[in-house]
Amino acid sequence: MDRKKLFNPEGDDTLNARKIIKGNSTNLFNLNNVRYQWANQLYRTMMANFWIPEKVDLTQDKNDYENLTVPEREAYDGILSFLIFLDSIQTNNIPNISDHVTAPEVNLLLAIQTFQEAIHSQSYQYIIESILPKQSRDLIYDKWRDDKVLFERNSFIAKIYQDFIDEQSDENFAKVIIANYLLESLYFYNGFNFFYLLASRNKMVGTSDIIRLINRDELSHVVLFRSEWAEKTIKTDGFCP
Ligand SMILES: [Fe+2]
Ligand SMILES: [Fe+2]
Repeated sequence: MDRKKLFNPEGDDTLNARKIIKGNSTNLFNLNNVRYQWANQLYRTMMANFWIPEKVDLTQDKNDYENLTVPEREAYDGILSFLIFLDSIQTNNIPNISDHVTAPEVNLLLAIQTFQEAIHSQSYQYIIESILPKQSRDLIYDKWRDDKVLFERNSFIAKIYQDFIDEQSDENFAKVIIANYLLESLYFYNGFNFFYLLASRNKMVGTSDIIRLINRDELSHVVLFRSEWAEKTIKTDGFCP
């Protein structure tokens, strides 16, 4: 499948001609005329979710971290490393998807998603700087490469993303959309649950509060990639790999 043209004066922006992919858009953000109404509603939700990591106080978490058991601390570091990888790859890969999206109302949502994934990355920086001792901060960023389980788990999704960059076929695009959905749902929730478990024992409550804010954003990303996208893309746009 071809990447959309950036400069396309011959594009047709009428609503009947609009498609999520494989359309012929001028790329103009004419948001007064929107074909996919669900995108309008989701835009409001995503914008209303804006938050700043530093507003969450992590003072108590610093004390809690020192009193975690060794397995708890290992899990805390490992899952943090897992999430750091996922948000990093999302920030980098969403524009690759957007390059093929020809409905401006959906491009708008993908731009906000990319911005939110970047905030998530910055929130991990805030957590690490506030809680972890200096000597172990850098180790967190490399843990996903050194830990066999983490590496295999991250490779599964990252390879699908990389395959689409290397070969932009319909089939690889479909795989990227499904991999993105799995990452935003199954993968993230798998990581979030540990922090909720700690908080239920009154440990690392500030970290859990930040994770809840990230979770709220990720939920909107799941909505963005769920049935509306799949149904409209496959049925309306005749996309069938
Ligand atoms: Fe994220
Ligand atoms: Fe996300």
